[in-house]
Order: sequence, then structure tokens, then C-alpha cells
Amino acid sequence: MKKALITGITGQDGSYLAELLIDKGYEVHGVVRRSSVFNTDRIDHIYQDPHERNSRLFLHYGDLTDSTSLRGILEKTRPDEVYNLGAQSHVRVSFDLPEYTADTVAMGALRLLEAIRDYNNTHGRNIKMYQASSSEMFGSAPPPQSEATPFEPCSPYAVGKVAAYWHCRNYRDAYGMFICNGILFNHESPRRGETFVTRKITRALGRIKHDLQSTLYLGNLDAKRDWGHAKDYVESMWMMLQHDEPDDYAVATGEAHSVKEFLEAAFTYAELDWEKYVSIDKQYLRPNEVDFLQGDPGKARDKLGWKPRISFTELVQSMVDADMELAAREKTLLDAGHDVRISGGARRV
Ligand code: NAP
Ligand code: GDD
Repeated sequence: MKKALITGITGQDGSYLAELLIDKGYEVHGVVRRSSVFNTDRIDHIYQDPHERNSRLFLHYGDLTDSTSLRGILEKTRPDEVYNLGAQSHVRVSFDLPEYTADTVAMGALRLLEAIRDYNNTHGRNIKMYQASSSEMFGSAPPPQSEATPFEPCSPYAVGKVAAYWHCRNYRDAYGMFICNGILFNHESPRRGETFVTRKITRALGRIKHDLQSTLYLGNLDAKRDWGHAKDYVESMWMMLQHDEPDDYAVATGEAHSVKEFLEAAFTYAELDWEKYVSIDKQYLRPNEVDFLQGDPGKARDKLGWKPRISFTELVQSMVDADMELAAREKTLLDAGHDVRISGGARRV
């Protein structure tokens, strides 16, 4: 049985990747941060008590800012493949937390690379590693962007991801390690964090439809992104590590839409007019913006045989459906006298 270790297993992608690998017969180990509240919502449905026979998902406390924990987890789990998905992944927040973002994103990748290199040397192994690189690294470079496009990062997050990308390239060249950078364009799902624009829109839409909210505050509606579905994208991560040669791949749909077009698609599906509910709040504008990301996934298609299955319309509608259901549950609880009204914290996203 192959073993995989996933950092960021509690995130959107980590949860879909864990499902995929379990389906493929892997034993899956995940790194979980200590938190004062439960942070395993996205994987609770696949978690089994480790005391049970046939359990194939195991969680370990660790942190990308703590190399001792990473080294200990490698020794304990002895994985064949490591997927580095852990990160402070919010671009806007990276302007508020530049040092911490660099620490998790750039230094975190470096710590993991060094831990794997040492482990390989000590045990005569060649663990394969996937690095979650990002289309955000292209920044202001004009579209369409591919593996050959020079990086022009526009945020502390993107600069951190560029550093991590080059650390991975360097370890591959210098030490012959099997490391792949997946340069993934934006990918969403009903499990997307609520502070990213697509989920913020569909979450608010559900609440508006159920009279729990009247206004949705957003920033720049003209930015364009190449939005795919996370379920399709995690498959590309696994495919990269199954190829004979380690390499870097851009993963995208090849189709771009503006935030306004996403709003239009979501609200029209719910039979509402978005212009009646959306207001602009300057706090959601960024000190530096990435205007236009549209990927060229030609290499991933030709070398890996990867292609997206879920269309933009299906993505939007699946997110709206899920958030309508969530808001309906919220409304039922509220009507029954339970106070589940949106908290101050959630309003700030
Ligand atoms: P996400 O939902 O924000 O998940 C991030 C994960 O990283 C969470 O499990 C989080 O733990 C964990 N994490 C944060 N800080 C950590 C630390 N110091 N040590 C260990 N783990 C830490 O992100 P995602 O959308 O799944 O994205 C996965 C990866 O792909 C990220 O590296 C992201 O930057 C990158 N990426 C994402 C996209 C996209 O469109 N989604 C595109 C390109 C690249 P908690 O649950 O405890 O917060
Ligand atoms: N988050 C957010 N909130 N974004 C808004 C808002 C708002 O209220 N209003 C407009 N936007 C615009 C942002 O300015 C940006 O241009 C676009 O919507 C998308 O923002 P996000 O959904 O936050 O995603 P991102 O593109 O900045 O970053 C995501 O994709 C990257 C890949 O390109 C993240 O998942 C990164 O981790 C990932 O690397």
C-alpha cells in the first residue's frame, strides 16, 4: 500500500486530495495545526477512529513553521509521496501578515525540502514531493500564462510562492529529488474558504435569498480569474507524481471570467439581480492587484492527459446549491429560536 503525507489536509484541496488518495488505495497521513477550535470540518466525513481496523487516514499535529515536527512526522509515517498544500493562502491577508506568510509559504517549503532530503539520505529513499505553486506568481504578466511565462509577483503571498517554487527547482536540480511544481490557477468548490470571492458571493447569496442578509460588500469587480473546480485540480497533483519524470505544470481551464461575471452567473441562477444587493467597500481592494489570470493548460493536457471535467456554469451552480442548503438550515435554526446569526468575525471577510 502506498503512503502519502499531506500538509494542509484540513484545507479545501487537502480534503479533496485525501478523498482521492483513499479511493486509490493509499494510506493517507495529514499534518494538522493545533487550534483552539476544531479545524477538521472538511475531513471529518472520511476520518475513522485509528483504533479501528482498516483505518487509512491518520492525522498528526505539526506546523510548517516547526521543522522538528515535520522531521518527526516523516520518520513516523515513512511516506512515498508528500503533497505540500499547507499555506497562509489568502492574498489580501498576506499584505497584513507578510512575515508570517513568508514563513509558512516560502520557509515552510524549504523546511520540508530539507527534512525530505535528510530523510532520503538517511534511509536511502527518494520520496516524491508535490509543491502547491500558484498562478498568483504570474502577477502582472499578461495572459495567457503558462510554465514559460516569467513571474511578476504582486503580493507577499505571491513572492513567497515564487521563492518556494525556486527552492523546489533547485532541490530537483542539485540533489536529483523527484519534485513537481503544480502551478494551479484558481479553483473553487462548496468547500472553498468563505473569505475567497467566489464562496463569499455564494454564501451571501444563500443568506440573501433566505432573508438573513441584505447587502454583499465586495472590492474590485473587474478582476478576471480562470476558475476551475478543486476536485478536478487535485487529480492533476496526483498525476504529476505518477509521471516518469519530475516537471512543472500549469493547471487551468483556459477560460477566464470577471468577478462581475461570477456574480451575474450566481445571482441569475438564483433568480435575483446582483446589482440590487452588491455594494463596493474599499477595504476589500488590495494595495496591488492581479488583474487578469488565464492559463494555458496545454502541457498538462499533452504530458499528463489531464483535463478539467467540471464547467464554469456547473461550478457556480454547485456552489450556489450548497450554500442555499446551508442558509436554509441556518434559517430553520433561527426560526426555532437558536441564535446562529452571522457573527461579527464572519462579516469582516
Ligand atoms: P486553504 O483552504 O486555505 O488551506 C490551507 C491549508 O494550510 C489549511 O489546511 C491550513 O490549516 C494549512 N496551514 C496554514 N498555515 C499552516 C502552517 N503554518 N502549517 C501547516 N499548515 C498550515 O487553501 P487551498 O485552497 O486548499 O489551497 C491549497 C494550497 O494550494 C495552498 O498552498 C494554496 O496557497 C495553494 N493554491 C491554491 C489555489 C486555489 O485556487 N485554491 C491555487 C493555487 C495554489 P487550517 O485549516 O488549520 O487553517
Ligand atoms: N477575497 C476577496 N474578497 N476578493 C475580492 C473581493 C472580496 O470581497 N472583491 C473582489 N475581489 C477580487 C480580488 O481583488 C481578486 O482580484 C479576485 O476577486 C479573486 O480573489 P480571491 O478569491 O481572494 O482569490 P485570489 O485570486 O486572490 O487568490 C486565490 O487564487 C490564487 C491562485 O491564483 C487563492 O486561492 C490563492 O491561494 C491562490 O494561489
